[in-house]
Amino acid sequence: MSAKILVVDDEAHICSMLDRILQREGYQVQTSTDPEDGLNLLKQQSYDLLVTDLNMPGMTGLDLLGRARKIQPGCEVVMMTGYATVDTAREALKRGAIDYIEKPMDIEDEFLPLLARILGSDSEEDEQDGDLEESRTQDVWGDFVGRGEATLSLLKKVTKVARSDVPVLLQGQSGTGKEVVSGLLHKLSRRSERPFIKVNCAALPETLLESELFGHTKGSFTGAISDRDGLFKAADGGTLLLDEIGEISRTFQPKLLRVLQDGEFHRVGDAQRSVKVDVRIVAATNRNLVEAVRSGDFREDLYYRLNVVPLEIPTLRNRIDDLPDLLEHFIAQAARKHTGYKKIHFSDDMIRVLTSYPWPGNIRELANAVESATVLAENEEIRMIDLPVAIQDFARSLGEEVGVQVEPSMGNEAETLEEIEMRCIIQSMAKTKFNKTRAADLLGVTRRTLSYRINKYDLEDQLTRLREAHGERDGANTSVPSAS
Ligand SMILES: Nc1ncnc2c1ncn2[C@@H]1O[C@H](COP(=O)(O)OP(=O)(O)OP(=O)(O)O)[C@@H](O)[C@H]1O
Ligand SMILES: [Mg+2]
Repeated sequence: MSAKILVVDDEAHICSMLDRILQREGYQVQTSTDPEDGLNLLKQQSYDLLVTDLNMPGMTGLDLLGRARKIQPGCEVVMMTGYATVDTAREALKRGAIDYIEKPMDIEDEFLPLLARILGSDSEEDEQDGDLEESRTQDVWGDFVGRGEATLSLLKKVTKVARSDVPVLLQGQSGTGKEVVSGLLHKLSRRSERPFIKVNCAALPETLLESELFGHTKGSFTGAISDRDGLFKAADGGTLLLDEIGEISRTFQPKLLRVLQDGEFHRVGDAQRSVKVDVRIVAATNRNLVEAVRSGDFREDLYYRLNVVPLEIPTLRNRIDDLPDLLEHFIAQAARKHTGYKKIHFSDDMIRVLTSYPWPGNIRELANAVESATVLAENEEIRMIDLPVAIQDFARSLGEEVGVQVEPSMGNEAETLEEIEMRCIIQSMAKTKFNKTRAADLLGVTRRTLSYRINKYDLEDQLTRLREAHGERDGANTSVPSAS
């Protein structure tokens, strides 16, 4: 259960700001601008933490503190004070406040960490409990493979926001695992026993999408032969994944906005009665929605409704320390899936190549590569030639012995233009020992253009890793030209 916090401050904007931020962090929050009301709330419900302002008309924070400690001794109190009132803050500590924080406060760097410490998530006393908690959650994390730094921090965020009902927006490149993460959000939530429904918003034309989501009444359009409930209704009490949310049309966006605002909608053909449901919305997209808002393709108000909690799913390149675990997972999975095939094995040299490969298709590309190798390889020891052409080309650009020489591919159908471009950049950099001027010549662009592209695709780290891979193979006494 997430911690419950009561905020009392006579300034309404502070209340609403803290309400929004604390909810986003997964806490349960109530706010009051009147200390007297705050006191009544304390009499009616139990809280883990009271955050109160010091100077308020009617009753000071110190008074509220004293009375709160009597009503609910288990509820900790944090006092918010202005600059000039440090003495009073000390007084607050004497009267039993656990800590104080000076206004104006730095929410991200001071306030939230303070709350986290108080509420236990990173307090030393609770470390043992924390470990237990962790291993319990690790069980639930189950099939979600990878425990590298980036993945762990993602999993911790997911676990935290799963406790609340606020909308989550999952953003990340194709194949990074957005759908998998949405499933985890559901599984870790209090809604896990209720339905988890996925809708691919890009797969249906607008009118069908509307009736699919909201349902329709008999005769509301050709083919509506009976009343039908939609997926919002089907997901009542549970979670609804709106996948590829970036693709919904401008005309459908206001209808979706209405549900998010009021939790109410109309079935197609029934303007009279509205249907009310309790559904947690998770939206996913590989589009950059901020850009879509800027270009007018996506409504700003809808974006803010969906994006209460943004979760960025890292690319495989940015979580490459998960590669060994992921390989093991997909090797076992492929062997299970294809009866008669054994678990394949990658040599250390191969793993080095896979570690520097850019993985433009992310985890999906890795899963596919392992699966195809399992089926195509002649024996369990995988050779470069058993892997998809894109990886072979890449290995060749590193000077690896790949086997049968084939023409470097200009990419297969599954590759996007950007992916091909990224691959070409990396290959020409590798071929020219990371000399940008020569690589640019090879590509027929200016050095400036190449630098710009490297930046645009965020390839610098990737190139650094590659350079290291080259350096290792060439031996310690070979000097490696710098990438800059
Ligand atoms: N952490 C993980 N552990 C194991 N498998 C994973 C993990 N993340 C992703 N996968 C696998 O990778 C593949 C792609 O994941 P998923 O479909 O969730 O990606 P996506 O971000 O929704 O992609 P798209 O944008 O193309 O829809 C799936 O086969 C999924 O099972
Ligand atoms: Mg997806």
